[in-house]
Amino acid sequence: MKVNVVSRSGRDVVKGGIELNDSATVSDLQDVIYRQTKKYYPSRQRLTLPVQPGSKEKPVILSSGKKIQDYCDADTNNLTVVFKDLGTQVYYSTLFFFEYLGPLVIYPIFYYLNLYSYLGFKGERVIQPVQTYAMYCWCFHYFKRIMETFFVHRFSHATSPLSNVFRNCSYYWSFGAFIAYHVNHPFYTPVSDLQMKIGFGLAFVSQIANFYCHILLRNLRSPSGKGGYQIPRGFLFNIVTCANYTTEICQWLGFNIATQTVAGYVFLAVAAFIMTNWALAKHRRLKKLFDGKDGRPKYPRRWVILPPFL
Ligand SMILES: NC(=O)c1ccc[n+]([C@@H]2O[C@H](COP(=O)([O-])OP(=O)(O)OC[C@H]3O[C@@H](n4cnc5c(N)ncnc54)[C@H](OP(=O)(O)O)[C@@H]3O)[C@@H](O)[C@H]2O)c1
Repeated sequence: MKVNVVSRSGRDVVKGGIELNDSATVSDLQDVIYRQTKKYYPSRQRLTLPVQPGSKEKPVILSSGKKIQDYCDADTNNLTVVFKDLGTQVYYSTLFFFEYLGPLVIYPIFYYLNLYSYLGFKGERVIQPVQTYAMYCWCFHYFKRIMETFFVHRFSHATSPLSNVFRNCSYYWSFGAFIAYHVNHPFYTPVSDLQMKIGFGLAFVSQIANFYCHILLRNLRSPSGKGGYQIPRGFLFNIVTCANYTTEICQWLGFNIATQTVAGYVFLAVAAFIMTNWALAKHRRLKKLFDGKDGRPKYPRRWVILPPFL
């Protein structure tokens, strides 16, 4: 069979097309494209079926494990696929490692080094107990996320565009510096002892719960690394679709109750906004996948992320 590989503007990506045998998979096609172009390795490639000009339909993405024949009409032995270069890719673990390393390193710099003296603050800096606990709580959180990245999560995609490293690092590193600056400031005013204990208590319990949610998500996939989505069940997943995000939000709420800075609450609001949008998309995807039709199970009734509101 012959496969024509064209760009979105209709230009040939591989001149003259590619001849493949009838049992070839999308993954075989991607390997040939890489051999011919010498630049676009498989994880850089997004292959879709062409859509009619003006159509509002989303193009069908070719799945690497499937046979090319599955995408051809029964009476033809020809296929045109649209190629998109996703840009330089990095492993997901690399992306997450760098985005979490920033806050893990930046926060203690503000705690241990008296940077404020260079910013014009004279006099002795007295470190309050809440500032010490906040530093431990913060570092534990990001250390846990790095460990989970390498030893817990089973990602469905191996790689992500390099540009995401810069975008995500800007987000985590700048918020890390913003919060660390305020919580460790020499003029920082601690909250009451009781409020601090309630806050850190909530943060601690939420981090443990968040870790447990990640274990439950991990167990939805086999170690073979095959993607695919299952209905998350057990613990808080019996109530909300994205229990891991719910516990993440509770952890930052606890941190902010204990430390009480505007910077911390701004981060909480932004993070909650991002996670809510992602949770809505994940909830929609699971409801669509598990629609109760053709023998598929029906997705149970659940809140999305923040019961009883959403
Ligand atoms: N502070 C913030 O701004 C912020 C923002 C986002 C996340 N976080 C934290 O980072 C953690 C990880 O974030 P994330 O967005 O990567 O979480 P996530 O999308 O819920 O995924 C965690 C892991 O579980 C897998 N997974 C999720 N739902 C699944 C299902 N139904 N069936 C099978 N596998 C499933 C995911 O696979 P895929 O690879 O297919 O996705 C991924 O490997 C969060 O839980 C949260 O603690 C913090």
